[in-house]
Amino acid sequence: MIVEMSNPRFPPKSEKEKMAVELNSEATTLQRIKSGKLVEGLEHMSPTYLEGIKRILTVSADTELISAPAYFRAAQDAPSLNAFGTAISIVQDELAHAHIAYRLLEDLGADKDWLIYQRPAGEWKYPYAFDVPLDSWYELVVANAFYDQAGYELLSDVYHSTTFGPWKRALAKVDKEETFHLRHGQQWIRRLAPDLDEREKLQRAADWMFMLTVEWFGLPDSEKRHTEQLDYGFKGRSNDTLRQAWMAKVVPFCEEVGIKVPAHLDQELGTYVIDVPFPASFDAPNKRWLLEDGPIGWDQVLKRWKGRGPMNQEYVASLQRGWTPTS
Ligand SMILES: [Fe+2]
Ligand SMILES: [Fe+2]
Repeated sequence: MIVEMSNPRFPPKSEKEKMAVELNSEATTLQRIKSGKLVEGLEHMSPTYLEGIKRILTVSADTELISAPAYFRAAQDAPSLNAFGTAISIVQDELAHAHIAYRLLEDLGADKDWLIYQRPAGEWKYPYAFDVPLDSWYELVVANAFYDQAGYELLSDVYHSTTFGPWKRALAKVDKEETFHLRHGQQWIRRLAPDLDEREKLQRAADWMFMLTVEWFGLPDSEKRHTEQLDYGFKGRSNDTLRQAWMAKVVPFCEEVGIKVPAHLDQELGTYVIDVPFPASFDAPNKRWLLEDGPIGWDQVLKRWKGRGPMNQEYVASLQRGWTPTS
């Protein structure tokens, strides 16, 4: 299979030089990975590797980029100018994280302008949680404590385990910044939670955001389709392992600050158990889980994710506004 890629030396787009690169066979790429060598570019990739790494990079890039308008919206409810400034620095970090992932996609032959500026909103690949608006400072700091912790678990797994060298190296910086984001959330929650009125507002945010983040890690391992994510070493740990790692950080933190979440550690099993129907239907406009309806199938969850949620069109439009083609 031959793919075309743009010259990585930033020529004017109209004169973009095309390079043809012959992809490796599956056996050659798997052999390279088995021998412990990193995959550095198209010249080391098989068609399956290329397709898989593009898929996971797109999810990462879209998640980072969409978090910018989502966090910016809530930052406007900041209680002080200082607090606003800190939130905006998080937004800036997320834009930089997105840039890293889209730039890597461009090196793999993807059309970055199309991905960011021309792709229909419904085709973006970020977690459903970001489609539900963050309307207050309380929701922003809970998002930092929950969503950025999820991002941290996912990206530090990629950082330690991925076989794609350029991404691995770039994530050293991203990992540290995600730690700052989640600590920002935790510090604000620790500061607000001792006051009962403030804690109640944090609780209301956690009530809808906790289960959306549990869901974020995707299909359970028993139903997972893209096994090449592990076989080809794009990531190291499975969805369920990452979900457990996230709960192992978030559940004890919530218990410490007096926020109730529907999960607990089963001492015998040594794993976290969810105490409510899961997965469940979500009433997005009212930010409410329809737990009284009982558990639903993952096929119904996939349908909700595919249909996207309330903020999808508005956030993507805000990122695409004003763009004109340069070539
Ligand atoms: Fe990020
Ligand atoms: Fe972040």
